[in-house]
Amino acid sequence: MSQLKPISSHMDGGAPSTPGKFKVDKSPFVHHRLRWHSSLAKLAFWSFVFLGLILLFFYRSPSSPPSSASDRRLLRHSSHPSAPWGGPSWEKRVRSSARVRSGRLTVLVTGAAGFIGSHVSLALRHRGDGVLGLDNFNDYYDPSLKRARQALLERARVFIVEGDVNDAALLTKLFDVVPFTHVMHLAAQAGVRYAMKNPASYIHSNVAGLVSLFEACKSANPQPAVVWASSSSVYGLNSKVPFSESDRTDRPASLYAATKKAGEEIAHTYNHIYGLSITGLRFFTVYGPWGRPDMAYFFFTKDILRGKGIPIFETPDHGTVARDFTYIDDVVKGCLASLDTAGKSTGSGGKKRGPAPLRVFNLGNTSPLPVAKLVGILERLLKVKANRMMVKMPRNGDVPFTHANISLAAKELGYKPTTDLATGLKKFVKWYLSYYDSGKRSSG
Ligand SMILES: *[C@@H]1O[C@H](CO)[C@@H](O)[C@H](O)[C@H]1NC(C)=O
Repeated sequence: MSQLKPISSHMDGGAPSTPGKFKVDKSPFVHHRLRWHSSLAKLAFWSFVFLGLILLFFYRSPSSPPSSASDRRLLRHSSHPSAPWGGPSWEKRVRSSARVRSGRLTVLVTGAAGFIGSHVSLALRHRGDGVLGLDNFNDYYDPSLKRARQALLERARVFIVEGDVNDAALLTKLFDVVPFTHVMHLAAQAGVRYAMKNPASYIHSNVAGLVSLFEACKSANPQPAVVWASSSSVYGLNSKVPFSESDRTDRPASLYAATKKAGEEIAHTYNHIYGLSITGLRFFTVYGPWGRPDMAYFFFTKDILRGKGIPIFETPDHGTVARDFTYIDDVVKGCLASLDTAGKSTGSGGKKRGPAPLRVFNLGNTSPLPVAKLVGILERLLKVKANRMMVKMPRNGDVPFTHANISLAAKELGYKPTTDLATGLKKFVKWYLSYYDSGKRSSG
């Protein structure tokens, strides 16, 4: 679905806080000879050292030791030791962010500092729903963009809890504090090609994280209805277009797609056993202001402005690569309609009481455009000629073509995308220039 630029070395920077390094004091006082005047002083001194060592040991040991150092490194960016949560003032912020008049939705949005998550959170808040965000602010891409989105949400009085969906105790706590009616689960490890570099993070976020979230939802009383982000990438190697929800999805072309497909099967299980109402959304190349820097339209913009070469993929037989680009505002409407039409979960206390809805929808735009056309629009908007380089598409997970059949979403959700690529990109470029060209920020 998304086109991922090779990840640069910044992925290895920005490690989570590591225990402080001790600076060796080279001052002459070190050599000053100390004299012990009594054994009491000696005892006190050694007790002190011993206590210090114990404290140091606890400080350095991770709360859940990873199986090996390499696992730890691989998982690091998605399992930061999260900021501490809990306490009366934290709970007060959680409650106040989720508070609503009766009759409105109370929604937990995971991945709220992400691209789609931040837009959905704002849209929910603006129409009067209660919203609480959850995000681990990992460094898959520049976290300062996530922080800027967080600031935007704060101005709308949406609080983002800093934590991981894999933190079961945190999820339980959130459901204890707020009786969420709905969960919009958008937290995920995105990107297609990064999966070859860091496969474990896809399992951690998209499989283990999803299970952790469903576990919390099925145990909650009342159970919320869940809407979550699947992906158009589940259509994999299919060549029949447009892609319809009933088409086969058993030939994923990337580990990313495979974890999303696994998620759809896991959703079936939780719906079947526990009566959770679950809706999966298959997004098609979502773009727009505040977007993800790892997506082609985003880094093409950056590279065109810098005069760098723009790699345009073609299929092995020189065919064009096309995407069903879908504008963020259209997708947000589809997300809100999914929440509004989600039937209730039927279980309670972990027991199913009756059948609950299990749905899946394509949220696309029904008009695939060649990537070369995308570059042409960007050139016009930026008033800069792009330095195009035709490149054979590597066989590393990207599919040549995506095209959504959205008739099911149209019928059930009233979904009707209205923004074409030129209009949507104009809004993106306007945002991009004001966000980065203010001279205060670096696009990395
Ligand atoms: C689109 O999907 C619907 C089912 O939602 C199906 O009835 C229809 O035939 C599909 N259209 C095409 C062109 O595949």
